[in-house]
Amino acid sequence: MVNIQWMYGHEPKTLPDDWKEKIQSMFLSETGEEYTHESISNLPIPQWSGNMFLIDQEQYPTPESLLGVLWALPHGQNGVRIAAFVLDSKYQSCGWGGKAWDHLVEISRAAGKITIQLEVKAENSRAQEFYKTRGLTVVKELPHYYKSGLGYEMKGPL
Ligand SMILES: CC(C)(COP(=O)(O)OP(=O)(O)OC[C@H]1O[C@@H](n2cnc3c(N)ncnc32)[C@H](O)[C@@H]1OP(=O)(O)O)[C@@H](O)C(=O)NCCC(=O)NCCS
Repeated sequence: MVNIQWMYGHEPKTLPDDWKEKIQSMFLSETGEEYTHESISNLPIPQWSGNMFLIDQEQYPTPESLLGVLWALPHGQNGVRIAAFVLDSKYQSCGWGGKAWDHLVEISRAAGKITIQLEVKAENSRAQEFYKTRGLTVVKELPHYYKSGLGYEMKGPL
């Protein structure tokens, strides 16, 4: 585990195709969400400290080194929005997601942000628990947001 750490990620549109494929397959297996290369490229995530990759240094720079992604972006004047958050199943529930979350909160507060929000599938109760523990609540139902149906917008203070 000593060779695994969160690092700053790249802008989605600049990622090599094999990295996009790795991200696609992680999303599909862990969230059931289908991304295409184009939809990954179109995510408006800048290169900033809210763009993080969980990397196994021993396998870097192969796409297999990528074990997780947290993609957040500034939202309005005072907010931050998480557009994508996923870990390879083998690395879930070990504290890695919490670590990335804490870092995002820290840098967002330092930038003067006061709210954090995201969208999550209604059926994804595990992720909702993770966010509730961190002070977010469901503020809106999003019918048809996902191919599979209902989504929730969750939001909380920073
Ligand atoms: C949701 C997700 C990003 C959370 O990341 P994670 O690394 O699994 O979360 P953590 O391990 O940091 O925290 C989850 C729980 O694991 C437990 N945990 C933390 N460190 C632990 C450790 N070392 N050993 C065992 N359990 C631990 C904690 O009890 C924590 O509970 P808490 O939320 O009450 O603090 C991740 O589970 C994931 O990728 N899920 C699938 C994709 C998904 O649903 N994404 C969200 C879409 S909106």
